[in-house]
Amino acid sequence: DLLAPKKCGMPLKYISLVTLAVQNAALSIVMHHSRVSTPPSLAYSPASAVLLNELLKGSISFVIALANTREVADIPWRRMSLWQIIRSLPYPGSTPFWNLCGEIFSPDCWKLSIPAILYVVQNSLQFVAISNLPVASFQVTYQMKILTTAAFSVALLRKKLSSTKWLSLFFLAIGVGIVQIQTSFVSTPKNQSVGSAHDSAPLHIHVMSPLRGFGAVTAACFTSGLAGVYFEMVLKNSKVDLWVRNVQLSLFSLIPALLPILYSSTPSSVGFFSGLFRNFGMWAWATVSIQVFGGLITAIVIKYSDNILKGFATSLSIVLSFLASVILFDFKITPSFVIGASTVLCATWMYNQPPGKEPTVSIVFTGQ
Ligand code: C5P
Repeated sequence: DLLAPKKCGMPLKYISLVTLAVQNAALSIVMHHSRVSTPPSLAYSPASAVLLNELLKGSISFVIALANTREVADIPWRRMSLWQIIRSLPYPGSTPFWNLCGEIFSPDCWKLSIPAILYVVQNSLQFVAISNLPVASFQVTYQMKILTTAAFSVALLRKKLSSTKWLSLFFLAIGVGIVQIQTSFVSTPKNQSVGSAHDSAPLHIHVMSPLRGFGAVTAACFTSGLAGVYFEMVLKNSKVDLWVRNVQLSLFSLIPALLPILYSSTPSSVGFFSGLFRNFGMWAWATVSIQVFGGLITAIVIKYSDNILKGFATSLSIVLSFLASVILFDFKITPSFVIGASTVLCATWMYNQPPGKEPTVSIVFTGQ
């Protein structure tokens, strides 16, 4: 397997969880910047970004799935010359290629249509949220998906959570809330004007609507929990390869991702492809690349850990993105941030205690 559960002696589970935390922090900062740093007339289309994300993720997953097929994995690549390697590559039309296509279009592939639609809705809501909220507020409120994920895991996967685990989830929500209060009311302006603070004439004002932002983020928490748990259920209830499932997910996502583009108001004179890539600058590409990478890592995390642990990894990203905001955007560290972040870290530690070693609160009566 290309991605064996252990790499360099460290379980892939932990490597992928830490990578996901860093990816999450980077995504919200880069995505926010990509949306607010240009005037609305020069903004790229979020629908194009969502579509490109699925196209790229699907193609990468297809290549990995192809490399994992028995026919390709059994080829002794190391003992071959460059010419032999080129001749043995599984080109479109070769047997491994067609076998893989057969596996992708298997009768149960429709199961992926549900998380596919939910993820496209979620990825679109994420753009609405991040364009209307400061980075830290978005990051922190989005962590409420931990609670929706736990609830869906219990309902759909019949997961049993001990009282300590529920308590740690509760602490996690409280910690997130404390950081939230401080980021929303203390350190972030309601409307951000773009352009350097020292500019005598700022380029434009990007007006944010926090209510719209919070509405979008709340809805995204529900789709995130349901889609993640549904994907986990499909993945763990069959022996089909993770990357084949990922290709199926991306294929089904193409339909809802294409709809808003086909019905958009782009003038027909522009042409489909020029319309798709209109205003797609460096920051838009950076956003899509980080999203693609995140999607692939998320799939690995769901396979080797589970959705609830994924939630803890991403909640650590709030600490990372806040620290990045301190350096990049001049945020100030306040006591409430320290208390909130410490609560999040303690909750993470508590959740990860093995059964039997969980901290318990007990009252001892000595009878004297
Ligand atoms: O916020 P959350 O962790 O729910 O986001 C998951 C992200 O990972 C979504 O953008 C989704 O499109 C992506 N994903 C993916 N492949 C999977 C599972 C999730 O690309 N198998």
